[in-house]
This record gives sequence, structure tokens and C-alpha cells, in this order.
Amino acid sequence: MSDVDDRPYFYVTTPIYYVNDVPHIGHAYTTVAADVLARWHRLKGERVFFLTGTDEHGQKIARVADENGVTPQAWCDRVAPRFEEVWSLLGISNDDFIRTTEPRHVAGVDRILETLHDNGDLYLGEYEGLYCVACEAYYAPAELVDEAGVVGGGDLCPDHKRPVEHMKDTNWFFRLSAYEEALLDHIEAHPEFVQPETRRNEVVAFIRSGLEDISFSRSLITWGVPIPWDQAQVAYVWPDALTNYMTAVGYGTDDARFAADWPATIHLVGKDILRFHAVIWPAMLMAAGLPLPHGVFAHGFLLVGGEKMSKSRANQIHPQELVDAFGRDCYRYYFMRDVSFGPDGSFSWEAILDRYNHDLANDLGNTASRVLNMVERYLDGIAPAVPTDADGDAIDRLRAALDGAVREYGARLDAVDFDDALTALWGGVKAANRLVEETEPWHLAKQTGEDARTRLRDVLGAGLEALRIVAVLVSPVMPDAAARLWDKLGLEGAAHDGPVDEVTAWGLFPEGTRVAKGEPLFPRKDE
Ligand code: ME8
Repeated sequence: MSDVDDRPYFYVTTPIYYVNDVPHIGHAYTTVAADVLARWHRLKGERVFFLTGTDEHGQKIARVADENGVTPQAWCDRVAPRFEEVWSLLGISNDDFIRTTEPRHVAGVDRILETLHDNGDLYLGEYEGLYCVACEAYYAPAELVDEAGVVGGGDLCPDHKRPVEHMKDTNWFFRLSAYEEALLDHIEAHPEFVQPETRRNEVVAFIRSGLEDISFSRSLITWGVPIPWDQAQVAYVWPDALTNYMTAVGYGTDDARFAADWPATIHLVGKDILRFHAVIWPAMLMAAGLPLPHGVFAHGFLLVGGEKMSKSRANQIHPQELVDAFGRDCYRYYFMRDVSFGPDGSFSWEAILDRYNHDLANDLGNTASRVLNMVERYLDGIAPAVPTDADGDAIDRLRAALDGAVREYGARLDAVDFDDALTALWGGVKAANRLVEETEPWHLAKQTGEDARTRLRDVLGAGLEALRIVAVLVSPVMPDAAARLWDKLGLEGAAHDGPVDEVTAWGLFPEGTRVAKGEPLFPRKDE
């Protein structure tokens, strides 16, 4: 066997989350989406690297640590594991978890800063401005809001609605303004670099309005990566944080790995941090002569009662509460099905309960129970052959619906469109249920004669095959439910083994397999 892995490469990232706070359903939204993409691309047979982690430097973290009477490092060491715990609760299959306080990361930050400095893209300058510590970003006075949220009048951060602070410092500036043209050219040549399109238009308008050089260091704080040639300053938290996407694949520590595993295929981010990813980050990479990621996809905010979740508003919902009530499969399904990836969306308890009972308990769970129950009752639990003769009847209609669902589901997931992908897949689930309704196997079972018997075996063979294909397809979104269904079907290997193109072909269910209905996949829940 050759040791060259020539499978297509897919590298997906989440933002690295600040450890000022424990994870809530907003953080988990991005992370679950990245996990579904990672699992989908593994199912396609690609070589996948899925990265998440924590952002641990900067003023915001130093302040929280101070308020809690511990050192910043001790604080980070306390909170970072909380993220790992929640990701494991949600079945997140990340291949690495990077923390910006790790030596492997700091080595890469040193490298990029030195490269930018050597290339003349960092220079010493004076800065005076209005800073929001929660955002770790400066604002122009015209961007600030007042108590009522009116732009232009007040002294509050437009995102956090908290007072900005006046700051004055001598810093190392990054020559961002020099990259306006190059950024616009890149986006024009590679429109997929910023998605969705509405966000791309915003980014282009922002760049066209003129970019200012940006301070990349701080002398007033100490909690950060020291500037290699100027130990009186530390790196600004954003260039430090963005570099994680490269340090995790060897930048600054393992050149061979970096050459093989960079650039990233897609960075998933919330709309709040799109400018950092679609403007500052590519400009840094251009300045350092490094390849750019293929794309940045920004999703909207998850709102609770119409408002953005935040610590200060005390309206946070934590994944554990929902997993306790509905299980992790439903958690993942609900957010991917109900909250379209792009615009803002809302969470509500009514909506998740509704998805649980309708889509999972009824459509998927009931269909599986009905088919398995009838195979147990009428065929002693032994799978009949999958019918493959086309004769234009109900079985053909199921096959056509499933074929359509397989194609559309894949195309939608490739396009990072989770809700439409799941709607397409549910078209296949409902088609399986329709087959049962139309052919009424319980009547066939009562009839005598060879024809009725053959028809019964064909219908149930088709039903089992549909369930097998659905189990494969649903595995990136609901890995546990897919595994449980696979188990009921008595199949070898795992639902997620793939490659998806091969294993979703019709006719693979082995005749003679022993199946078992067992417990319902999703027992109905009352209010
Ligand atoms: O910005 N709805 O970290 P952060 C949807 N450390 N997504 C939400 C959300 C909500 N209500 N709240 C948070 C940072 N998110 C930096 C990132 S990357 C190099 C550095 C998600 O902890 C969303 O992905 O504030 C958002 O972009 C991210 O959490 C911000 O997490």
C-alpha cells in the first residue's frame, strides 16, 4: 500500500471560542454544523480534518480571570475543558482541539508576525480610539449606539450595548490598507470565498469604503503572545486567534504537514466575525505569501425571544438542558433542520418538541417500526430479497423518490444548506411510509397464494432497503439514531462507512439478514 493519501481533502473549522464564557447553543450551532459537514465528507470517502478550539488570550480573558481571582492561564485551564465536554455531549467528531496558549500555536504566531514584519507589513504607529473589550475591537464614533440602540448617538458598542473605552497606545500596525485591491480582485475571481452572497456583498461594500491599517499589538496588556522583536508588546488577540487555523496543521512546527494540510476548505463563522475572516485574515495571508482558504461561510445569529443570546442578557440556553429533554440526535437534527444556515433564526421549545414528534417520532421512527414489525410478524424477522424489477408500481415510485432524495441531499450538503438537505431526505422517508400505506402489507399477509406472498416479500424488502439508505444518509446529522437503526436492520459494518455513492445504490440489503424491531427509535413525547 502506498502511503500517499490521494483522496480529496476537506478541512473545516469552527471559530475558536473565547473562554470568558461557557458554551451555549449559539456556539454549539456553528460546531454542530461543522460536525455535520465533516461527517458528510467522511461519508463521501474524503480525507477530512475538522478543527475547533478555544481563544484564550487578550484583554477580555485577562479581565474575567482577574474578576475570578485566578491567573489567566488557570482560568483558561478551567474553562477550555467545558467546551470539550459539551462537544463530546453533542457527538462532535473534531480531529483536533487547539488552544491558543499551547506552545505549538505560539510558535506559529511568532512565525507569522516575523514574516509580516520582515516583509514590511508591520510598522510602529500611534493609536487613539474607542475600544469594546467584549468585541476586542475598535469602533468609530459614528458606529456607536445609545441606550435605545440608535446608531450614531451614543457611547455603547453596537453589538454588546456596553460602554466603549478610550484607549491610546503605541502599537505595531498592519498595512491592511495596502490589500484593498488584492482582496477585491480575489473575491471577484473566487466568489465562493465569501458565502452566502448577501454577506459577500456586504464585505465587498466594506472593502470598497476604504480599509484602514489596523493595530496588531498591545503594550497596555500582558496576556498575549509577546511580539518576537519587541517584548514590551503582545500580539492583538485577533491575528493570534486567526492563525490557529494554520498552527493546528503544523505552521511554525511541522513544515511537511503544513504543506500537505493547508489551506482550509471552509471556515464556518457567525456573521459577527465575518470581517475578521473575510478581510483581515486573507490580507494577512497575502502579506505572508501563504495560500488563502477556499471559503468563509457566515451564518446568522440564533435568537432567543427575539434577542441575541448573551451573558449580560442572561438569556442563554445551554446544550445540556436540551439534550436532557430530547437527546443529542434530536438536538442536532432540530438546529440543522429548523434554523436555516445564513439568516438569523430563533430557538423555541415548542419548535424542537414539534420536530421531535413529527419528523423523528412519526415520520422516521414510525416508518421504521412499521416495516420492522411486519418483517418480524409475517417473515419471521428474516429479510427478503430487495426487489429490483421495474414495473412502474408503488415500489418504483419509492425508488424514484429515494434516488431524488439521495441526489438532492448530497447537492444541498455540498452547498452547506442543511435545512434543504434534510427536507430532501425526508422526502425519501415519507416515500417509504407511503409505500406501506399504498400496498397495505397487512392485507397481503392474510391472502393465500403465491402472488400475494411474493408481493408481500417485495414490499417489505423494498421497505427495508429504503430504511438502510435512510440510515446511511442521516448518519452525519444523527449518528446515534443511524447506528441504532443499522443495528435493528441487522447489518454488518456501520451506517457511516460509505462511500456514500456506492452504499446508497438500490439492492444491497442482504437477503436472509435477521432484523429486530426492538425499542422505538424516538418514543413520542408529551408537552
Ligand atoms: O468571536 N448565534 O469567539 P466567541 C449563532 N474568539 N452563533 C453564535 C451565537 C449566537 N447567538 N453566539 C455565538 C470569538 N455564536 C472569537 C473567534 S476565530 C479565529 C476567533 C458562535 O466565543 C458564532 O460562530 O465570541 C460566533 O461567530 C462565535 O460563536 C463567536 O464566539
